[in-house]
Amino acid sequence: MSYVDEINKRRAFAIISHPDAGKTTLTEKLLLFGGAIQTAGAVKSNKIKKSAASDFMEIEKQRGISVATSVMAFNYKGLKINLLDTPGHKDFAEDVYRTLTAVDSVIIVVDCVKGVEEQTEKLMEVCRMRKTPVIVFINKLDREGKKPFDLLDEIEVKLRIKVRPLSWPISMGYSFKGVYNLYDKSLYLFNPGRTTIAEEVLAVNDLEEDILDKQLGDHAAQLREDVALIEGVYGPFDRESYLEGESAPVFFGSAINNFGVKELLDTFVEIAPTPRSRPADVRAIDPHEESFSGFVFKIHANIDPRHRDRIAFLRICSGRFERNKFFHHVRLGKDLRFRSPASFLAQEKSIIEEAYPGDVIGLYDTGNFKIGDTLTEGEKIMFQGIPSFSPEIFKEVINADPMKSKQLEKGIEQLTDEGVAQLFVHKQGNKKIIGTVGELQFDVIQYRLLHEYGASCRFNPLNYTRACWITSENKEKLAEFCKYRSDRLGTDKDGNIVYFSDADWVLRRVKEEYPEIEFHYSSEINTGLPGRKHSKS
Ligand code: G4P
Repeated sequence: MSYVDEINKRRAFAIISHPDAGKTTLTEKLLLFGGAIQTAGAVKSNKIKKSAASDFMEIEKQRGISVATSVMAFNYKGLKINLLDTPGHKDFAEDVYRTLTAVDSVIIVVDCVKGVEEQTEKLMEVCRMRKTPVIVFINKLDREGKKPFDLLDEIEVKLRIKVRPLSWPISMGYSFKGVYNLYDKSLYLFNPGRTTIAEEVLAVNDLEEDILDKQLGDHAAQLREDVALIEGVYGPFDRESYLEGESAPVFFGSAINNFGVKELLDTFVEIAPTPRSRPADVRAIDPHEESFSGFVFKIHANIDPRHRDRIAFLRICSGRFERNKFFHHVRLGKDLRFRSPASFLAQEKSIIEEAYPGDVIGLYDTGNFKIGDTLTEGEKIMFQGIPSFSPEIFKEVINADPMKSKQLEKGIEQLTDEGVAQLFVHKQGNKKIIGTVGELQFDVIQYRLLHEYGASCRFNPLNYTRACWITSENKEKLAEFCKYRSDRLGTDKDGNIVYFSDADWVLRRVKEEYPEIEFHYSSEINTGLPGRKHSKS
């Protein structure tokens, strides 16, 4: 197969949702349709039901370094589909954000009873920033949920994206009859509780046909009315606008009942983008360039203290990756080769000889990588757009065992390289501050420092709620700000200045006082360039 064909047959995507909307269930059903697994129940949920470090550790141990569930590759209709797993717990949202940099499109799962929930809004924000094409799957139609048109309106308002339904439910809950596929004009009839993956399908060339009344009874008239309204209000499906991230096709179904999933997958393979180009500091890197490049977006540590190796996940952006070939690690300025790069097909991890743009491979690492690192064939580029968001919880690290301060330092350095949390140093007193989006990470850090590095620490809670990266075109004003506000300033790991705020109203006042200073909620790994501006009032 030619190099171009290899690229064009790849689709890398992730499924995202608020916990409990049905991400794990949908993942499993897609793998069933893709033939990657044979039975339901094979995909382990990575949800942490009770928010405790012990649960997290247990799950991590089960998942272990086998990481089979981090990337799930399967073949479908001649395509190689790479489905990237994302953590289900909201405390690990940062991990999800970074995974989103490694995919070319996304499927968002929305629970039809709960509608658009908070975590989904946040994740959509990241997709919008990156113009990632999204498809929405509205799940749990076997339950009485919100009305379909209301759900579409809610998606438009809360996710700030135009929608275009490509399937339409016929009633819901107890009287759920099925979905009408607006894309290929066929009717899929629902049989609750079915465990097989076949659906009863009727091709409907004309909605006026009698068969519709026979099958759907009173619901037929409603369907005709709804379809007429959809065609009038939403216009034809525009693939370009989907690929630009401006509109989202919407599907309805019930993942647990295998319903609506095949239409989703069949349409996905038709419309989802092939590997897209990626921004680097000097230029955008096109997947068809022959010279190899890729970046690390995730590092998975081995929880077993006897093997402190890790797996760095590399998204291939251009060229061909080859086993045992030397590639250039741009940040370290040295050449490395990889004897056992791993790929993941179904649930099996296997050593690969080569990989192409759109693939994600695992590289065994003993400490060379941190998130955002770039590998090339020699060119000195750094991939960009890998976000680092402001943490919400901040604690000072206090060494509890002075004999082990080196170990503590190393442990914190490495764990924050992995992206478990962010590390800041306060300007006053050089205090080390760890910032996270959830309490759970502190337990995880403490546990791992002890078990992997033999270091113990305590955390001293700080009442900061946000770290804003600050910049200004006016260097004098910036210097003045740094002088008078040094009690609130620190630096991130790359030396960028951050301002710690303890309340949004305080931040608002400071902004009014210093209009020349810009406050940013996110920064970009590798560039230190500020991301989104603090805009919420
Ligand atoms: P998540 O990964 O997004 O967190 O969600 P997950 O798939 O684990 O699904 C959350 C719950 O919703 C599960 O129930 C799952 O069985 C249920 N679910 C998923 N799809 C559907 C659907 O189409 N209809 C209905 N009615 N329920 C659905 P649970 O009780 O939390 O877990 P379990 O004991 O069933 O595993």
